[in-house]
Amino acid sequence: MRTLFPFIGYRDGELFIEKLLVKKIGKEMGTPLYIYSKKAFEYWYKEFDSAFSDVERVTAFAVKSCSNISVLRLLGSMGAGADTVSAGEIFRAITAGISPNKIVFAGIGKRADEMAYALSCNILIFNIESESELYLLNRVAERIGKVANISVRVNPDVNPKTHPYISTGLRTSKFGIEYEKAFDVYMKAKELKWIEPVGVHFHIGSQILDISPFEEATSKIADLVKVLRDKGLSISYFDAGGGLGINYKPEEPYPQTESLAKKIVPYVKSLDCKLITEPGRRISGNSGLLLTSLLFIKENEEKKFYIVDAGMNDCMRPALYQAYHHIVSSVEKERTEKVDVVGPVCETGDIFAKDRDIGVSNEGDYLAILSAGAYGFTMSSNYNSRLRPAEVLVSGNTYTVIRDRDTFGDLIKGEKIIDIG
Ligand code: LLP
Repeated sequence: MRTLFPFIGYRDGELFIEKLLVKKIGKEMGTPLYIYSKKAFEYWYKEFDSAFSDVERVTAFAVKSCSNISVLRLLGSMGAGADTVSAGEIFRAITAGISPNKIVFAGIGKRADEMAYALSCNILIFNIESESELYLLNRVAERIGKVANISVRVNPDVNPKTHPYISTGLRTSKFGIEYEKAFDVYMKAKELKWIEPVGVHFHIGSQILDISPFEEATSKIADLVKVLRDKGLSISYFDAGGGLGINYKPEEPYPQTESLAKKIVPYVKSLDCKLITEPGRRISGNSGLLLTSLLFIKENEEKKFYIVDAGMNDCMRPALYQAYHHIVSSVEKERTEKVDVVGPVCETGDIFAKDRDIGVSNEGDYLAILSAGAYGFTMSSNYNSRLRPAEVLVSGNTYTVIRDRDTFGDLIKGEKIIDIG
């Protein structure tokens, strides 16, 4: 097997995911299609979680990265909690059987009804992102008669050196509360009857490949914990967020979770806190791919286009962030050619790859857009009234459909036709 990513690679010139021929799944299920590997999920979850095994912890999978309830069930069965940002994500996590006392709830714009829902579910911690939110939560908690455990999401003002759209820990970012102000917010929280400050939280960004910003943030936030304890607060949770990056090119190096853990664990141990982490992409990113069919090949004087049946509505990372996703043919090719791989959506930006060397392919071939397990399906939409793809989970030499492809009925679900007499 020539491995591209764990459990994804070529055998005898054909692309396999675990023990299944990708082409076979494509033929049976049609395209575009999200294909995930159970073994890969298990592998990446263990790689992450076990690196922190020296401390008591909640590894709260970031639901936004891949929210299918079968995926959540699988990770939950291995002990994962859930990092959520909406009542809908909490609902998914609980539906999948994740214990509410492993669910954390972040987000800068929580509504009162979402807070009430989260409280009624008995989630572990609300990660508070503004003073106004704190007061609203206090009112909602009083109405419901349940005390809300909180951490303040502190913005440590470190540069994660990643794409500006996915940097969140800088002073100019809308997320969290400035480091200098966080202390005051904790002091206010302490006085509120229906609020219990139990932890600290930070999340500095996503797809971070350099470990040093994590260490910088950890050390700053650890100092804050000491100050808060001096003021009588019993802080027992240290939430270091998510954001650890992955390789999008098969041969590229990527940081080991072990080296991240080496930086964080000593602080958490010396504070005697429970650690919460919120990995998303690291667990789901290389656990899935988007399979697409090459519909047409079109050439002009300047360019050659591979027109595929997946569009930016199915996977919007390349269009939105100019993100690189490795694209391979389902049959290993000897020669490559420079092409643009484009989708059918009526937008100039509907491009998966520009001037990319891809194995010379024919109309009707399958192409796999790799590393699409994170922020792939979850960011998909019905734009252009396209049916969102099905999702399947491979295990060994079988697969299970874990989400049906949209139908025309799904497209107009909830819409009403007006009576025009
Ligand atoms: N915790 C919080 C509070 C977050 O906001 C996020 C991601 C995570 C954890 C998980 O981060 P991860 O471990 O997956 O890097 N759509 C973008 C990524 C947006 C990330 C948003 N927050 C993308 O496709 O690159």
